[in-house]
Amino acid sequence: MPDWRIIELPRIHDARGNLTYIEANQHLPFSFARVYYLYDVPGGAARGGHAHRELKQCVIAASGSFTVVLDNGKERQSFFLNRSFYGLYIPPMTWRELDNFSSGSVCVVIASRPYEEKDYIRDYDAFQRQTTETA
Ligand code: TYD
Repeated sequence: MPDWRIIELPRIHDARGNLTYIEANQHLPFSFARVYYLYDVPGGAARGGHAHRELKQCVIAASGSFTVVLDNGKERQSFFLNRSFYGLYIPPMTWRELDNFSSGSVCVVIASRPYEEKDYIRDYDAFQRQTTETA
């Protein structure tokens, strides 16, 4: 069974607008070192197309919607994210593709480590070889 999963984040309902928060050592299965976000994504564009050796991430559709396809070399699963209080946990050694971004969507990513290019696997065949070596 893949270790990826949807995490339901806390939400505070309010007539003035809802609020969701994420606290260190509380809501995610890793401690975080970095936050980044994708925005102004043009229609038809795709992001991702790589895996990470060590990095753990949580992906949130803070606004709008998009699709995340995850692949661990054996199983593949597609997630449609469209609520700000759901986080998709992506464990290490998971190939990901993000597409189908709605207009004005914002994809927030909480990450366990700073940006490190050497942590990326950008070639799918190399990724597949590495997942079978470690199986
Ligand atoms: P990349 O992770 O390939 O984008 P995505 O997976 O969202 O499609 O990153 C795109 C570029 O941005 C790449 O040149 C590296 C740079 N970058 C940083 O400098 N810091 C970061 O935290 C991230 C995520 C990317």
